[in-house]
Amino acid sequence: MAESRPKVWVSQPLYEDLEARLEQWFDVTRTAQVTDHAPAAIAAALADADGALVTLNDRIGAAEIAGAPRLRAVANVGVGYNNLDVAALAARGIVATNTPGVLTETTADFGFALMMAAARRITEAEHWLRDGRWQGWGFHQMLGAEIHGSTLGILGMGRIGQGIARRARGFGMRVLYHNRSRLPDAVERDCAATWVARESLLAESDHLVLVLPYTAANHHVIDAVALARMKPGATLTNIARGGLVDEGALADALQAGRLAAAGLDVFEGEPAVDPRLTACRNVVLTPHIASASLPTRRAMVSLAVDNLVAAMGQGPDAGRPSDPVTPQTGGKAVPLQ
Ligand code: DGY
Repeated sequence: MAESRPKVWVSQPLYEDLEARLEQWFDVTRTAQVTDHAPAAIAAALADADGALVTLNDRIGAAEIAGAPRLRAVANVGVGYNNLDVAALAARGIVATNTPGVLTETTADFGFALMMAAARRITEAEHWLRDGRWQGWGFHQMLGAEIHGSTLGILGMGRIGQGIARRARGFGMRVLYHNRSRLPDAVERDCAATWVARESLLAESDHLVLVLPYTAANHHVIDAVALARMKPGATLTNIARGGLVDEGALADALQAGRLAAAGLDVFEGEPAVDPRLTACRNVVLTPHIASASLPTRRAMVSLAVDNLVAAMGQGPDAGRPSDPVTPQTGGKAVPLQ
């Protein structure tokens, strides 16, 4: 009898032509429609799976893998991987991977656009116009915050943060950043960015952009205290994960006018958005789309497929997936947002 092939579960419909590459080595079970899988459904899908291709909506933790004795690899389609409990996966010897690099420029484009939209009140002005409230050009209408010549602060200076810093050069911005560790001199020079302590970043930035990974340690890193330390009239943009920000405290700061505006692509309770935020006129809200362009989304799936194939010991890079994530790379179980 022919030996059965390893089984792979694809948790969401992605791109059939790219998913089809898995069929060279594996029996593939696909999810036909976008599905909000309950934990029990994920556990059931993994029960006889050797590998899985998942997205950030699919939380894989100790409970989901407890009944999955054959599982060897989980490839996440996304650079953020807080949906994976990588410590629990590593403890079972299951390889986890993510998709860095391929979404850097698209996400940096979006982060910059969101920051500009918030600062220049673009969606607020559009809603005002669509509501029929524009009675004619007005000298004092919709005055926004300056971008050119202002100070951009980047919290989390990985690849996407560096991409945003490079874009800021074209706007003549002064760029500050904070990371646990300083970047090499050559990278700082290339980004024209200066490392500062976190407190200085908060105090000096006219526009603060969050691009750091979400871990248990930085849950609500922007809380009421941090917001109070920000420059009065500054803007805050978050394209990383919603759990980085205390949304209630942010809504208070926006409503009090302490912050001029915010741009938010991510939310703590996604897809729910805190009504205190939707009530604020000075916040631009987008539904987690920073990496959403067709070429980038395809590149993410392609890379995740390559990672899964390699992690499962097949293909040209057998045993050497390019993007493994481990507890040491920062993955720590946090609630899925
Ligand atoms: C990611 O990759 O982590 C984004 O949030 C989704 O593209």
